[in-house]
Amino acid sequence: MASLRPRPGILEIEPYVGGKAEAEGAARVVKLSANESAIGPSPRAIEALRAAAATIHRYPDGGARTLRAAIGERFRLDPERIVCGAGSDELIQLLMRAYAGPGDEILYSAHGFLMYKLSALGVGATPAAAPERELRADVDALLERVSSRTRMVFLANPNNPTGSYLTPDELARLHAGLPEDVLLVIDAAYAEYVRRNDYTSGLELVDRADNVVMTRTFSKLFGLAALRLGWLYAPAAVVDVLHRVRGPFNVGTPAQVAGIAALEDLNHQDRSLAHNDLWLPWLAGQLGALGLTVHPSIANFVLVEFDRDGSRTAAAASAWLEDRGILARPMAAYGLPQCLRISVGLEAENHAVVATLGELMA
Ligand SMILES: Cc1ncc(COP(=O)(O)O)c(C=O)c1O
Repeated sequence: MASLRPRPGILEIEPYVGGKAEAEGAARVVKLSANESAIGPSPRAIEALRAAAATIHRYPDGGARTLRAAIGERFRLDPERIVCGAGSDELIQLLMRAYAGPGDEILYSAHGFLMYKLSALGVGATPAAAPERELRADVDALLERVSSRTRMVFLANPNNPTGSYLTPDELARLHAGLPEDVLLVIDAAYAEYVRRNDYTSGLELVDRADNVVMTRTFSKLFGLAALRLGWLYAPAAVVDVLHRVRGPFNVGTPAQVAGIAALEDLNHQDRSLAHNDLWLPWLAGQLGALGLTVHPSIANFVLVEFDRDGSRTAAAASAWLEDRGILARPMAAYGLPQCLRISVGLEAENHAVVATLGELMA
């Protein structure tokens, strides 16, 4: 008798394991495992969410018109070329569904964001990873790996979990080396945190090419991770395709109104950024002073390297922290079993993780 089976590729997916939110036995948890906003959501977003509660019996505006207009105004983009999604995760999946399938390859760098591999498998496509150089995407290695089967190249810039980034010149070189029928997806989930002159989220590349898309999220600096809200900026033809494959109401009203309010709250964004500006270097410096290798990051987290064996491995450090109510993110799934990723938290949380790791290292 024939048994029920999913499409090829699905059973190869190791379900995505998000950053832990609970530590057994701990009354208070310090959650530094998911790169969320340290300071929380904008009060104006909370207010907008409350106000929207009375109308949740109505379907949302399926076109997210007001939200797209607000994003367009803020980032000086044509709202017609913006597509919103239930987190940038959904947008990554929609791109996969629209442009890849069995026999196609999806390319990314070795320690790139995990969803590229998982969502490629989800559509039966073949994931392909190009080696990195010192935990940085390597343009030449990526281009070498492009074949006639390659349909899309995903690049997180800055990358999660390494915190590293490519410069505008490197991005342009990557794009220039790709065939015109290969889509370059620049995932700029952490763009709002970046304070570098030699960085771009890729907007201008989208403007001058037919095969470049940039994705963004409200889950990080804007502090709306639970609402699931992301957006992308794409050539008109890609936008048209995505509107055909997305669900008609893929972004709920609470997410839309909170997103608009968060965008308008410049003061909250300034506070969020100032907090990161202060605590990212502090965290990196303090962890480095404990004798740990901290990889340079321009986002809201640091990647920390531990011993490969002995009593101070990343696994031991993770357990040590968790026993004390502090959650960091183990990195084995990213091919970095010697590392933990630690998000920038509130002042007391940052002090707690440094002090607790200090006890382990002493
Ligand atoms: C590089 C990168 N892209 C996308 C996402 C997904 O974000 P969202 O919450 O918008 O789905 C994350 C989340 O951690 C990320 O690190």
